Amino acid sequence: MAETVLRTEQLGVSFGALRAVNNVSLEIEEGKFTTILGPNGAGKTTYFNLISGLLKPTTGKIFFRDTEVTSFTPMQRVEIGMGRSFQLTNVFPSLTVHENVRLAAQSHQKVGYRLFRNHRSYQKVNEKTEEILRRVLLEKRRDVPASSLTHGEQRKLELGMVLALEPRVLLLDEPTAGMAIEEVPTMIQIMQDTYQRGTTIVLIEHKMDLVKQLSDRLVILVNGGVIADGDPRTVSQDPKVLAAYLGGGVLDATAS
Ligand SMILES: Nc1ncnc2c1ncn2[C@@H]1O[C@H](COP(=O)(O)OP(=O)(O)O)[C@@H](O)[C@H]1O
Ligand SMILES: [Mg+2]
Repeated sequence: MAETVLRTEQLGVSFGALRAVNNVSLEIEEGKFTTILGPNGAGKTTYFNLISGLLKPTTGKIFFRDTEVTSFTPMQRVEIGMGRSFQLTNVFPSLTVHENVRLAAQSHQKVGYRLFRNHRSYQKVNEKTEEILRRVLLEKRRDVPASSLTHGEQRKLELGMVLALEPRVLLLDEPTAGMAIEEVPTMIQIMQDTYQRGTTIVLIEHKMDLVKQLSDRLVILVNGGVIADGDPRTVSQDPKVLAAYLGGGVLDATAS
């Protein structure tokens, strides 16, 4: 049996009268690819904001392995291995792709003490940077300023910067959103590669067709609550899920 790496217990938040996330209890298993699927406005991003500490819950608790992290800062959560891609906010537009990845790798190495002074750690940062550039398929774009990348390339860079922090759990919020259609397969390839290297992935999506093949488990979130949870084939045929999806038009691959 796989171990639980991330757990939320009755996690919830309200915005005024709106219960955006309503007492969500989930256990994420180590090494698995879990996808949280749901129509727009279901509360998916809000759930991630709670897990990563950008929002304070009004109810419930969050655990990473055996540690309760409910009151940890976002940075503390990253430091213990919870990685989240923050939609371009941490990318420096005027720096090159290589420099951006290097900064992330360096910040990870530096945690705790001034290792970076020593030559071996300098080399380790360089090696990590090269590894990440290969993994996110941006080697050929290494010397281009981040601001000149296509939208899809920026998302890959952003993912690379999170991977440089060597997260145990990777939270991905619609990583292919707004991407040109021809860039989607390479993003999927990067996610699969990351998963095969042993990183636990929790992906948020609203397009069923994209995630059925990729995921070990599908969790369906509607109106802030989980309505179905299990293996992708069973869940995608669940009448409750089909009803929610047809109602929201989400089965349409082009819905955004
Ligand atoms: N900061 C906020 N203040 C008020 N309402 C919010 C806030 N963030 C999200 N919401 C609302 O909460 C609901 C869930 O939003 P969100 O988590 O972004 O959905 P999803 O990511 O599933 O599309 C939506 O109705 C949205 O309008
Ligand atoms: Mg969202």
